[in-house]
Amino acid sequence: MELVAALLLLIQRQILNGGMSHRRAETLYPLNAEHRTRDISGNGLPAGIASGVTLDKGPDGREGGAYYFSGTSSSYIEIPYHAKIDTREYYMESARVRFLFTSCAVSKNERIRLAAVAFDSRSFRGRMACLQIYNEALTLKQIRKSSGLCSEELIRPCINYTPIEDVTRAFNQTWYRLKGQQQISTQGPQSNLGLSGWMRGPHPQREIGAVERDLCFGDVRGSCQHKASVTVRHCFGYYVYKFIGLPQEHLQISVDKDVDAETLPERIFQERPRFQLTDHVFYEESNVPSPAQCVEYCLVAGEKCESLNYSSKDNGTCQLNNATASGYGHHLLANQSWAYFHPIALV
Ligand SMILES: *[C@@H]1O[C@H](CO)[C@@H](O)[C@H](O)[C@H]1NC(C)=O
Ligand SMILES: *[C@@H]1O[C@H](CO)[C@@H](O)[C@H](O)[C@H]1NC(C)=O
Ligand SMILES: *[C@@H]1O[C@H](CO)[C@@H](O)[C@H](O)[C@H]1NC(C)=O
Ligand SMILES: *[C@@H]1O[C@H](CO)[C@@H](O)[C@H](O)[C@H]1NC(C)=O
Repeated sequence: MELVAALLLLIQRQILNGGMSHRRAETLYPLNAEHRTRDISGNGLPAGIASGVTLDKGPDGREGGAYYFSGTSSSYIEIPYHAKIDTREYYMESARVRFLFTSCAVSKNERIRLAAVAFDSRSFRGRMACLQIYNEALTLKQIRKSSGLCSEELIRPCINYTPIEDVTRAFNQTWYRLKGQQQISTQGPQSNLGLSGWMRGPHPQREIGAVERDLCFGDVRGSCQHKASVTVRHCFGYYVYKFIGLPQEHLQISVDKDVDAETLPERIFQERPRFQLTDHVFYEESNVPSPAQCVEYCLVAGEKCESLNYSSKDNGTCQLNNATASGYGHHLLANQSWAYFHPIALV
């Protein structure tokens, strides 16, 4: 029995003793090649322990965008106990996916096991991505909003980065853009100037999104004596980087002049006020102050973003669409509070 791929799994927790006050995502496991089974919520949750699962195509068709569970009792991801996800009473709601979810209580330490039930033979076969756990039930609107959280990395790093002059002063888990059109060297140091960091593997194409690479520290060209990890994203005209496991003592990191930098956006958008394209939204964000910023999001998202809706009401809502109205004229609705933007030219 093949089950559908999961775009979004929203697990909602029923609050038993009304004393809980948290009101936001407690955990955010993208379950993809970039983050593997790590939590990126910032709450410091333990990584999931994967057993008998493989990376597979995600909901957007990209390789490495989800995990595949084979439908046997030994194919699962288990999230170790953490106080933030006390699992006594969970239930799950999702129209798009059926899957089995269990929390096995082992004395006080409760783990969550995805896709296989520990004590009987039920199991889930299919793909799963983007696990979010909340400590309250979400409204439909909140569910729609949070469906972008795992793909947020597609856009946000290119907008919300910290410019940095001296990359040796970088910290873990912050997106940086190197000043002065620099990029991290993929070659390793030319001369023997002590341990110097370099990135193993090429810079990615923009369409690929963020990728994780080894950040090697070695004193000879090409050697990788000590390793950290760097996630790199190609944006328009620059790269952004995020580090994990940087050495405490600030080692050097080699940089090169970025020679391939693109400077021009590839598309120019024309506004069609009072219309919105329905049914093709793949990303939505509120509190986006201007249509220009929404267009920037669309450019950053790459080819997948074919047009966008922007409404200035409610502090600004930006919706990226995976189609243009030209193929779907009947989905273009008149609406006073929205404007539809579509590309008119390739530059
Ligand atoms: C980065 O994280 C590692 C642990 O993963 C830690 O040992 C190191 O001190 C951190 N580096 C910086 C610069 O904060
Ligand atoms: C476009 O997005 C809609 C709504 O999210 C989805 O149902 C549809 O499958 C997507 N189409 C493509 C070609 O990705
Ligand atoms: C609009 O922004 C203000 C200030 O940041 C915030 O308090 C308010 O909740 C926002 N409104 C909506 C609808 O998001
Ligand atoms: C126009 O958009 C607003 C905001 O999204 C929505 O509340 C309203 O129902 C829409 N109106 C029509 C006629 O679709």
